[in-house]
Amino acid sequence: MSKTKHTPVNELSCEEFDEIHHPRPMETDFGRLVEREISRRGFLGAGIAFGASAFVVGAGGLRPSTARAAGHGFGFEAIPANTLDTVTVPSGYNWHVVAKWGEPMWSNGAEFDHMTRGTGESQELSFGDNNDGMSLYNDGEGRSVLAVNNEYTNLKIMYGGSGSGAPQNADDVRKGKAAHGVSVVEIAENDGKWSIVVDSPYNRKFTADAPMEITGPARGHDLLKTAADPEGVHCLGTWNNCGNGRTPWGTYLACEENFHSYYSSSDPDIEIGPEFKRYGVGPKDRGYAWAMADERFDIAKHPNEPNRNGYIVEIDPLAPDSTPKKRTAMGRFKHENAEIVIAGNGQVVGYMGDDERGEFLYRFVSDGTYAEGGDNADLLESGRLFVAKFADGGRGEWVELTPESSGMASQAEVCIHARIAASAVGATTMDRPEWVAANPIKAEVYCCLTNNKNRGKKPNAGGDPTPAGGPNPRVGNLYGQILRWRPDGGDHLAAGFDWDLYVVAGNPTVHSDANAGSANVTADNMFNSPDGLGFDSMGRIWIQTDGNYSNKDGFAGQGNNQMLVGDPETGEIQRFMVGPNECEVTGFAWSADRKTLFVGIQHPGERGNSHFPDGGDTTPRSSIVAISRDDGGIVG
Ligand code: FEO
Ligand code: CA
Ligand code: CA
Repeated sequence: MSKTKHTPVNELSCEEFDEIHHPRPMETDFGRLVEREISRRGFLGAGIAFGASAFVVGAGGLRPSTARAAGHGFGFEAIPANTLDTVTVPSGYNWHVVAKWGEPMWSNGAEFDHMTRGTGESQELSFGDNNDGMSLYNDGEGRSVLAVNNEYTNLKIMYGGSGSGAPQNADDVRKGKAAHGVSVVEIAENDGKWSIVVDSPYNRKFTADAPMEITGPARGHDLLKTAADPEGVHCLGTWNNCGNGRTPWGTYLACEENFHSYYSSSDPDIEIGPEFKRYGVGPKDRGYAWAMADERFDIAKHPNEPNRNGYIVEIDPLAPDSTPKKRTAMGRFKHENAEIVIAGNGQVVGYMGDDERGEFLYRFVSDGTYAEGGDNADLLESGRLFVAKFADGGRGEWVELTPESSGMASQAEVCIHARIAASAVGATTMDRPEWVAANPIKAEVYCCLTNNKNRGKKPNAGGDPTPAGGPNPRVGNLYGQILRWRPDGGDHLAAGFDWDLYVVAGNPTVHSDANAGSANVTADNMFNSPDGLGFDSMGRIWIQTDGNYSNKDGFAGQGNNQMLVGDPETGEIQRFMVGPNECEVTGFAWSADRKTLFVGIQHPGERGNSHFPDGGDTTPRSSIVAISRDDGGIVG
């Protein structure tokens, strides 16, 4: 309760904000549920060294911990945790800043002003804030184009120049909207340093006002019609894009996550229906105040606007005149990323997490098939949507979401209210599914379940129970885990899969129970809250964290947020990079020759304790850094 009184709304996490405004009931019979789950599975005494709980843990977790300290599989020496206000990389590696918030993308833009932190106009001409997921494209003529999500803004930083720490007028809103969305920017390497190519014809920004086309089953549905768009086929803008996806046909997928945080109501007594409640839409925004200057964000006046966000947005970064397409067939929820794989028969499979406590894991399967060099432009326009259901014994299945299975009137409604459809089929409530990543070497897929303090304590926003068990084994999960599954027969179209946990994060220097983590977590590599995730071409998995950086109590010794790399076969994990103070490390991309790794540093100094990257007493700025080896070799 004290948080509602004393903490400015923008400093609460989205989950905390949502729960204050849409309180979840307490689960009363929770302990009994957990007891039953554990005893039914016969987990206790299963021989896995995990104190009070017991998990299905992969090969890495079953190996004795002494066997995995060697570190032979990686091309770098692991680095220790730290709390330095800089980027730390292994010995023999170097880094530099490629792009940062407020850096002009066009020559008529103004250099970033550390005092004012810019205007609406300067932000419209410069790189957005809080960079997150990204992908790098080559235009075939040697030019490198980086597409980057600009997820959100920190109000105290963005509007700190005026002393208010909050938007006060229409130009402040213009600046905020222009800091969100997606920046597409050409970058080039000169004298070993990558930087923005100012005025490149590829440079584009897709802000909260950029025209978009609505495609798929929900296109033209009544729930998507507005005063400005009576057909329900065109909308404006994308915002709060978190992780991303990259298609084999060269497009970029921006994934709309906490889209609801920007809507408010001019009528404080407005009645909020269950559909809005499930998605966190309510009478108050999180302080962005966009409705102050754009009534599109006033749900009392435009109640269908929130139904036009929460989608995967497909962008062609190499076609400067193209219009982004919202892919409603892939469902509306708080998207993290979209991992695209091509099934054996050519159908496109998209794995997607819904990042909220107790929400679900989804799979999209296209109707059409991918043809290399063919016309793949509309493969994400139609297909089938599934949700994951986990069973005992390391098994799971994909349950299709249809009007029949969900009881909804149409596939359009299934897609628009995907969360509610998934609840109707009894999907498994998860510990906040963040990025999903598919192993390029074999048919297995990983997903970060970042943490969930409500696990075993409160239901999700739809009232679904969240008992501890299966892939979400710990009550009040503070550290997170990485789930892995293998589709039956190595076929991504299969209905069933085997699953285990690749790693259960924890702190073995503080705990000796389940919070110590799995056996592949040691005092040397421990971390919390895995979030960003992706494979390199060698089949090693890179893990980024967005967690508790207090470096004390249960998080003592874990330092700032970081990036690690894991071996899927041995379970071995090594720390590769540590970010500056109060940042999240999120989003990464490789240069074509794998000699440069681009990594996102988001919201350094979100609580006022960083001057990254410019130093002195400057304003902290979200940035993309390039990491390479001193000897010019392959990174990792
Ligand atoms: Fe934007 Fe789920 O992190
Ligand atoms: Ca994330
Ligand atoms: Ca996160």
